[in-house]
Amino acid sequence: MSLRLLWFLLLLFVGCVPVLVVNRIVLAAASANEIQSRINRIQNQWLIVANQVSRSGYVDNPQNEAIDAELVQMANLQDGRVIVVNRSFRTVRDTYEIDTGKYNISESVLQCFSGKASVNYYKESGYIDFAQPIYSSDNQQVVGVMLLSASTASAEELKEKLADRMLLLEIIEFVFMLIAAAVLSGRMVRPFKRIADSLTKATENPLEEDIRDSGFVETRAVSDAYNKTLKRLRQLDDSRQQFVSNVSHELKTPITSIRVLADSLMGQEDVPVELYREFMSDISEEIDRESQIIDDLLTLVRLDKSQAELNVTQININELLEAALKRLRPIAQQKNVELILESFRPVVAEVDKTKLSLAVSNLVENAVKYNNRDGWVKVSLNADHKFFYIKVADNGIGIPEDAQEHVFERFYRVDKARSREAGGTGLGLAITRSVVYSHHGAIKLYSRENEGTTFTVRIPLIYIA
Ligand SMILES: Nc1ncnc2c1ncn2[C@@H]1O[C@H](COP(=O)(O)OP(=O)(O)O)[C@@H](O)[C@H]1O
Ligand SMILES: [Mg+2]
Repeated sequence: MSLRLLWFLLLLFVGCVPVLVVNRIVLAAASANEIQSRINRIQNQWLIVANQVSRSGYVDNPQNEAIDAELVQMANLQDGRVIVVNRSFRTVRDTYEIDTGKYNISESVLQCFSGKASVNYYKESGYIDFAQPIYSSDNQQVVGVMLLSASTASAEELKEKLADRMLLLEIIEFVFMLIAAAVLSGRMVRPFKRIADSLTKATENPLEEDIRDSGFVETRAVSDAYNKTLKRLRQLDDSRQQFVSNVSHELKTPITSIRVLADSLMGQEDVPVELYREFMSDISEEIDRESQIIDDLLTLVRLDKSQAELNVTQININELLEAALKRLRPIAQQKNVELILESFRPVVAEVDKTKLSLAVSNLVENAVKYNNRDGWVKVSLNADHKFFYIKVADNGIGIPEDAQEHVFERFYRVDKARSREAGGTGLGLAITRSVVYSHHGAIKLYSRENEGTTFTVRIPLIYIA
């Protein structure tokens, strides 16, 4: 169901139903009022006539033409019938000439003889019956009864006329409301249409334009939320493009070197074997680099793809750290860097062994690589009831303040030449952070230039998927 249709029906309902109800009520009240005032009017006249009849002694002498004319006129005026009954319940005058001479002992007649006039309104048959006692000339006793049946047809007619007029007004009102509801409902859904249009445009022209809507508070909230999403998507898109261009650049660098080396070999004649050997070993080094970058990239992509791929088991972290340090010891010895492991307590935790080893190795490798000769690297392990903490501290070259927030970014290196010389790809810390995050952990760094760097890693002892 469309929102517009809903609004349309609602407006139409709200616009028409109260009017209809009020009209019905007004009509009923007007008609009741009309009947009542009619009763009052007739009753007044009827009383006057009854007085005349009483004074003239008409009951005993119905030949009185003046009074008779009066009665006939009354009957005609009210579009009804007048009956006069005498003391012995015999009808002495009927303007319809049907009941003359017959007995009439109806309830209202009986009531009148006990002095009670009555008025009865018969809604269905459309008549009001008046019964009025006729008194003797000394006003002492009831000598007869006058009955008047007055038709309410004219009141009904009035009511119908009124109803007709109301119907006309109602039709006009309905048509007016129809138009108003169509216009208003269109107006109410217009902001939604605008947003839908903007969204369609935005998808045709991805991530380019913000959508704007200042129509209603609610629709503005929608467009604001959308714009926020758009902003985030743009950021993601930017970083994706940045990443792709970085990857291409990084992958191209070794290839360019290989090409230069190969070209220079081919461009010379009678190249000495030693030079061949030297160049070939350089080429081989570049190939190693290329495959290192590809390996790291693949690792990163795999880590990004899903955490479900974590192969979590109970691992002794102390042993894991020892093994990692053992692998890096030869590199440390080259620079005469002292590698120290400090375990405060035995720690067993649920981790992915291979990935955590990789993360720790990256940290320790950096601490050795970006160190001075004869420096030291301290790795420590501690735990509380919830987490274990690995700290990798060195007294190496440190990381400048402004670079600290960037070192975890892919391909970011403070000193490109130095990193390259040390065989780095700029992906190590990105991989480490990704591993730590996939274990729901945290990583922080403290560093001072020329004094040293400390990375701390905090990982929960129990893995929660
Ligand atoms: N312990 C450290 N001391 C000084 N600089 C560091 C240290 N660890 C990382 N860095 C800086 O952070 C950069 C990013 O590190 P990383 O992602 O491991 O890439 P890579 O080691 O391949 O260059 C390094 O190039 C280096 O400049
Ligand atoms: Mg590294």
